[in-house]
Amino acid sequence: MSGTGTAAVEVTGLTVDRGSVRALDDLSLTVPAGTVTVLLGPNGSGKSTLLLALLGLLRPAAGRVRLLGRPVRAALKSGRVATVGQSDGIDEGFPVTAREVVMQGRRPFLGAWRHPSSADRAAADAGLERVGLADLSRRRIGELSGGQRRRVLLARCLAQEADLLLLDEPFNGMDAGSEEVYVDVLRELAAQGRTALVSTHHLGTVERLADSVALLDGRLVAHGTVAETTTPEMLATLLGARHPTPSPTATAGVGR
Ligand SMILES: Nc1ncnc2c1ncn2[C@@H]1O[C@H](COP(=O)(O)OP(=O)(O)OP(=O)(O)O)[C@@H](O)[C@H]1O
Ligand SMILES: [Mg+2]
Repeated sequence: MSGTGTAAVEVTGLTVDRGSVRALDDLSLTVPAGTVTVLLGPNGSGKSTLLLALLGLLRPAAGRVRLLGRPVRAALKSGRVATVGQSDGIDEGFPVTAREVVMQGRRPFLGAWRHPSSADRAAADAGLERVGLADLSRRRIGELSGGQRRRVLLARCLAQEADLLLLDEPFNGMDAGSEEVYVDVLRELAAQGRTALVSTHHLGTVERLADSVALLDGRLVAHGTVAETTTPEMLATLLGARHPTPSPTATAGVGR
């Protein structure tokens, strides 16, 4: 984990109710700047709820959230927080190109007249290039595949030059090559001192991606290194899953 000592995400005693369900109970979690933290947990374990609460989109019943050392509203206003939801939220009929979607990441930088500068255009093009979609930049977003759209949304985060990325299941529907590029990009960002909090069900990706893993099940079950958290026992108990590289000590088949 990073030795910078700065917390990019600081959650204390977070409790969130969704309807009559207590989706998160008294969760405290610190994500150091310059790291990638993965949220792992079964369906309904509160991963999306946590990310939505971090964005101020769900009102907590209790607890406190700080992003980049500031209260949520101030952090979001700064433009330094980028996010991609579990559903890509793209309206297929909306007549915008991939490049225009990426350009939305430049909003925090645009001046009063909202005209993109050459620096804005260069940042958008660099983002598309980095995710391998330069050739499709003029294509309408609705005419891209699901995995390509996910890469466009990552390019938008890159164009935004955000310090904190909150990503809900970004690898859904992605092929292995795209996923590899995506992981490489997140590792590069971490090396630059930026931070990502990423939910996923892709156990095979966690080792390459994560500095730390937070295991959720309506509460924080564990938070530690990949080795500490993705033990066969833990995964079998929490996810009913086998470890991707089965070990002789695996207790596979233990259901929840
Ligand atoms: N819109 C909603 N209204 C009421 N309850 C909800 C709503 N969305 C989620 N929940 C409930 O909140 C709890 C946490 O759900 P959440 O979506 O955070 O889980 P998750 O870990 O993201 O799951 P998944 O892996 O399926 O995306 C679940 O019990 C779920 O049924
Ligand atoms: Mg979810």
